[in-house]
Amino acid sequence: MAEPSAPRGLDGVVAAQTRLSHVDGQAGVLIIGGYELAEIAGHVTFEDAAHLLWMGALPSRAEHDALHAEMAGLRAVPETTLAVIRAAAGAPPIDALRMACATSSLDLEESSDLSLEADLARAKVLTARFPTIVAAHTRIAAGKEPIAPRPDLGHAANFLYMVHGSEPDPRAARALDTYWVTVIDHGMNASTFAARVIASTRSDMVSAVTGAIGALKGPLHGGAPGPVLDMLVVIGSAGNAEAWIKKELAAGRRLMGFGHRVYKVRDPRAEVLSRVAEEMSNAVLHDRKLFDLARTVEQTALRMLEEHKPGRNLKTNVEFYTALVLQSLGLQPRTFVSMFACGRVAGWCAHVIEQHGADHLIRPQSEYVGPRGLRVRT
Ligand code: ACO
Repeated sequence: MAEPSAPRGLDGVVAAQTRLSHVDGQAGVLIIGGYELAEIAGHVTFEDAAHLLWMGALPSRAEHDALHAEMAGLRAVPETTLAVIRAAAGAPPIDALRMACATSSLDLEESSDLSLEADLARAKVLTARFPTIVAAHTRIAAGKEPIAPRPDLGHAANFLYMVHGSEPDPRAARALDTYWVTVIDHGMNASTFAARVIASTRSDMVSAVTGAIGALKGPLHGGAPGPVLDMLVVIGSAGNAEAWIKKELAAGRRLMGFGHRVYKVRDPRAEVLSRVAEEMSNAVLHDRKLFDLARTVEQTALRMLEEHKPGRNLKTNVEFYTALVLQSLGLQPRTFVSMFACGRVAGWCAHVIEQHGADHLIRPQSEYVGPRGLRVRT
């Protein structure tokens, strides 16, 4: 087959201008709304980071208080949504989230209203509801009843309360909050692109976010941290790392948590999350075993990937330490990609708002490589 005339997978193609975030893959820098990631992760709340994306600036004290109170009041999900979550009890959590997200169309404002005000209102509702959906599904899948959200708790603390049934250690809530800020937005990644394509047809935010969940789910995008944890469990101890990795690479399989389309150096989000994972291991779990194993597996994998694909610069990505952070919060690997969605939903909504503002259809072309001139009639 002839060489394609456009880069494979749109690699390097600029699909939109954005003020939301920028990924510098050579320098290993992620800018969110003007701030480098390390400047905001662990220093502003998830709601404040959402405000930064939605409104273009971090909130004032009064705006911070108003936004936290407003979003806390939007956490409960309607009965119809709960009924879908119950019906999806046996489904993977990310599929349940996608189905439950779609039910938001039933009670949100008129979907043809694409004004900034209507989009902002929807962004707050969707972002506030996502953790409630994931927590409810986690409990229902385990044969337990869902726990109603508590408006007096922060966004992350309330999620852990709804999953575990008790108020979390504040350090655990802070770890989750930092995780959600870390993954809130990331340039023109596949799920964000999917959301923008849908929004560009003047379709509504619920449709765009529902489509984005579908794009996030795959292991080449957001579905990797579950398999990362599986890998660490299978490897079991530092002494097994090299042999296991060698076998995987020889079989042509990819190591989850390594490699990135844009980053050619260590993903800055891995930097933030490895610190969070280490803090959780030391201060909350009082058990460094898994963290120390992960460090060894990371070093071994980096060395072996360099030998396997010299010059490809396959480095640690966000998903590697995500697995450890989420595991330290007592969450099951099958929920990990939904946890990612709970953070990224704020970014998707911001991109939908931006795309509706640009009001320009995204419609690339394909290169036809099939036959021509076939005939039905002889
Ligand atoms: N392990 C082993 N080999 C790898 C890995 C890996 N993790 N990543 C890439 N390679 C190899 C590929 O097999 C390919 O080899 P080839 O040229 O002989 O075919 C080469 O390196 C280049 O890979 P591409 O797929 O062209 O790179 P691309 O930029 O398209 O892929 C991706 C990026 C999908 C993230 C890839 O590195 C991967 O599959 N990683 C593992 C899954 C993962 O960690 N996903 C999470 C990504 S982060 C996120 O989206 C939030």
